[in-house]
Amino acid sequence: MKQDMILVLDLGSQENPRLAREIRSLGVYSEIHPHDITLEQVHALPNVKGIIVNGGPNRVVDGVEIDVSTEIYNCELPVLLVDHKGEVGWPEDEADRKEALANFVFGLCQAEPNWNMENFIADQVELIRRQVGDKKVLLALSGGVDSSVVAALLIKAIGKQLTCVHVNHGLLRKGEPEQVVKVFRDEMDANLVYVDAVDRFLDKLAGVSDPEQKRKIIGGEFIRVFEEEARKLEGISFLGQGTIYPDIIESGTKTVKAVKSHHNVGGLPEDLDFELVEPLKMLFKDEVRACGKALGLPDSMVYRQPFPGPGLGVRCLGAITRDRLEAVRESDAILREEFAKNGLEGKVWQYFTAIPDIKSVGVRDGVRADEWPVIIRAVNTVDAMTATVEDVPFALLQHITDRITHEVKGVNRVLYDLTPKPTGTIEWE
Ligand code: XMP
Repeated sequence: MKQDMILVLDLGSQENPRLAREIRSLGVYSEIHPHDITLEQVHALPNVKGIIVNGGPNRVVDGVEIDVSTEIYNCELPVLLVDHKGEVGWPEDEADRKEALANFVFGLCQAEPNWNMENFIADQVELIRRQVGDKKVLLALSGGVDSSVVAALLIKAIGKQLTCVHVNHGLLRKGEPEQVVKVFRDEMDANLVYVDAVDRFLDKLAGVSDPEQKRKIIGGEFIRVFEEEARKLEGISFLGQGTIYPDIIESGTKTVKAVKSHHNVGGLPEDLDFELVEPLKMLFKDEVRACGKALGLPDSMVYRQPFPGPGLGVRCLGAITRDRLEAVRESDAILREEFAKNGLEGKVWQYFTAIPDIKSVGVRDGVRADEWPVIIRAVNTVDAMTATVEDVPFALLQHITDRITHEVKGVNRVLYDLTPKPTGTIEWE
């Protein structure tokens, strides 16, 4: 194993992720573990050089005060107590805090600053091989950042012992299913099962206009298709998952209640009880992207903008029809192409088109044409809770309008959504 590690033990401080990131910013890998970890479990972790017990206001859980076991306090490793019943002070000033941390990490613990993506990947490859042995792993590969990076890492570690299943539900953006096949099957030589489930999803969705109902159908059907594929495969023991650290925080820890339940695949029947392989679960999003880049994934995959699970299904407003779905997919592709050409690709947080279920009168080739409008949405945000609208140059909007109304079948108008969140949400449904 190549990396030294500082353990952060969770006594309910909201600052744990920040502390782990601070340690990583010193070049030393850090992981957060629950307060009730045993010394045996600590010893089983690779290259632990020191432990920080990080206290906080949530130390009382369900009326019981929690603490780390005395065997850990008394172990041979350096242990730093932070904000713990006031026994050890912790500098408030940012510079002092960093210096105190560096003194502990490098002085007392003698850790080496050897945290980088190459070492992380090398260590994870070794850990995955140890966990999996000669058994087989299954992975639902959506083509999103997290599942793509975990796929690339698993392919590097265990090659053909991994089977990736890509379900094309017909609601992906233009070129996305093809890119998944090209990158993973053609270039990385992975075992990839490509499932064309387009008709199945669209048939289920026919006539359904309620947005929550649409989401439920898409999510439920996805699990069913994946489960069917899993049952066809012989001898699978593990399920790979692109869980990342923010997912774990959102799902709640032993000291912090869940914000929302998290599931990347979720809801698989109990008789398909796989053990999980989650090599990215200690990484933050920017680190996951760096890992993907180091594994050779294309920028268009690694820096992909957020895309909702139900995909274009919630951008084809109301009951989904194939013709409007194609119109939203084609107009989205034009928008993405023009934003990339004009330097907006990495600058705007999220941008897309939506198509409402209304028609308006227009003129095409001198005759009346009743066609749909397309709405462009381009927003910036930090946490998706509030958002501002991108000030897209007017000439570019005109050019995009010209292209969409001439290249996309059935669209005669283009609208630009000027509404921040609130009052509008980012998506239209
Ligand atoms: P809203 O529309 O709530 O969107 O302002 C905030 C962010 O969440 C994404 N979003 C979803 N993501 N499943 C997802 O995985 C969903 O059902 C869903 N709905 C919205 C949206 O794209 C934006 O980034």
